[in-house]
Amino acid sequence: MKIGIGNDHAAVEMKMEIKEYLESKGHEVVNFGIDEVVSCNYPEYGEAVANAVASKEVDLGVLICGTGVGISLAANKVKGIRAVVCSDPVTARLAREHNNTNVLAFGARIIGVETAKAIVDAWLDAEFLGGRHQTRVDMIMAIEEKQ
Ligand code: RB5
Repeated sequence: MKIGIGNDHAAVEMKMEIKEYLESKGHEVVNFGIDEVVSCNYPEYGEAVANAVASKEVDLGVLICGTGVGISLAANKVKGIRAVVCSDPVTARLAREHNNTNVLAFGARIIGVETAKAIVDAWLDAEFLGGRHQTRVDMIMAIEEKQ
């Protein structure tokens, strides 16, 4: 799978570790994040990864900032994006199975790298279940058209 990854200054080390982890599992990773710990603005990176997902340049996106909150909020402003912040693998799995999320976010100041890897695994291994969940996801996406 081709995965876009993005991060701000709060998550440089965790981004490197997750990028390597994804590559070790055979994924191609496109790095849209910052590689130096210098103060920067997370919306830039959330938008870059979200645009890559929305345009199908990559299949899915992974975003990391201090909490995962700001960067996921930015990603969710891009049309077609369903980004979720997760701190546990169960939420990550259900966020694919029920919500068909296409961007995963988490916080480098909130969880450790082993939890982050378990979250990434749960999210990537899960599949959207469709059916009644499709109806609800369609309703979410229809909100974009009403704006
Ligand atoms: C940066 O200090 C921090 O605000 C950012 O990484 C993130 O936690 C925002 O939601």
